[in-house]
Amino acid sequence: MVRMGVTASAPAKVILFGEHFVVYGEPAIVLAIDKRAYAKAELREDKLLHVHSVNLNLSGYFDGEAFRVEQGDEKRAKFKLEPIKVAVEKVLEFRGEKVGLDIEVNSTVPVAAGLGSSAAVASAVAAAVGGLLNVKMSKEDVFRISYEAEKVVHGTPSGIDPAISTFGGALLFQMDTGFKPLETKDVPLIVGDTGVERSTGVQVAKVRSVKERYPRVVEGMMRTAREVVLRAIDALKERDLETVGDLMNINHALLCGLGVSDESLEWLINAARKAGALGAKLTGAGGGGCMIALAENERLEQVLKAVQRVGGRAFIAKKTDEGVRIEQT
Ligand code: PMV
Repeated sequence: MVRMGVTASAPAKVILFGEHFVVYGEPAIVLAIDKRAYAKAELREDKLLHVHSVNLNLSGYFDGEAFRVEQGDEKRAKFKLEPIKVAVEKVLEFRGEKVGLDIEVNSTVPVAAGLGSSAAVASAVAAAVGGLLNVKMSKEDVFRISYEAEKVVHGTPSGIDPAISTFGGALLFQMDTGFKPLETKDVPLIVGDTGVERSTGVQVAKVRSVKERYPRVVEGMMRTAREVVLRAIDALKERDLETVGDLMNINHALLCGLGVSDESLEWLINAARKAGALGAKLTGAGGGGCMIALAENERLEQVLKAVQRVGGRAFIAKKTDEGVRIEQT
C-alpha cells in the first residue's frame, strides 16, 4: 500500500573533534544536535520529480537528467536540489520502479554553515520516500543513500555527516573502521554562526593543497589530531570539561594551521573564550560557517551573549539521540 504523504526528519550535527583530518582517515568525534531538517514526500500522477525547498526559496522539476527551475536562480537551484534528486533516485533503485514524486524540504538547520544541513536533508528525504513507497530500508541503507547524495555536494566526503544525521547521538567516526556510538555525559555547547556561507568542497580542496605542499608538516599535524581525539574520548566519558575545552583549543589551532579559519570565526571564538568558555573552535569545514564553544552550564548564557554581541547568530545546542525518523504518516 502506498501512503498519501510521509514526513521524515534528521538532525544537524557539530563536529567536536577531527574535521578535515577525518577525510584522510583520522578519527573524529561528532554529536547530533537538536535542530532538524524535515522532508515530506507525496506521489505525483506523472513521472516527474518536483523538489521544493521552503527555507531556501528554491524549487524545480527533474525529468531524468533535465532540470527546469520554478523558483530562484537556476544554477543555485540545480546545485542545491541535485543531492535531493540523487537521494530519491537511490531509493527508487531499491524499489525497482520509477514513480513521480513531490518533495518538500523544510529545515531549521543553517545552510552551508558546517552543521551538516545537506546530509540531514538527504537522510530525511531518503526516509520519507522509503516510508511513502513502503521500501524496506535499514538505517545503514539510509546512511549509504545519504552518503551518495553527499558526494554531489563535495567529491570526497568522509561520510561523517550522513552517519550522524542517520544514527544520531554521539559517534566516534573513522573512514576505514566505520563508526561506533560514543558514551558522553552532557556537553554544554554554544553554536555561533558567522553568517558567512562557504563551500565545504572549497575548504577541503584548500587542505588538500596545503597537504601536497607540506606533506611531512601536515603528517605531524595529523598525528596530533589523532591524539587529540583519543584523549577526548576519555574526557567526554568522564565529563572532564576542562580537558575537553583544552583539546578543542588545540584542535582549533591545528585547523588554523591548515588555513580553514577566517576572521569571522576568530571574532566569535575569541569572544567566547574571553567570556569564560573552557574551549572554542570552528566546527565543520570552516572558512566561515559555525564555531562551537564549551562552557560550564552556569556560564552558557554569558558565553552565548558574548558571541551574539560580536555579531554571531548563536544558540545553545543540546545533544539528541534521535537520528533519522518518520514524523507522521
Ligand atoms: O559538513 P561540513 O561543511 O561541516 O564539513 C564536513 C567535515 C569535513 O571534515 C570538512 C569534510 C568531510 O567530509 O568530512
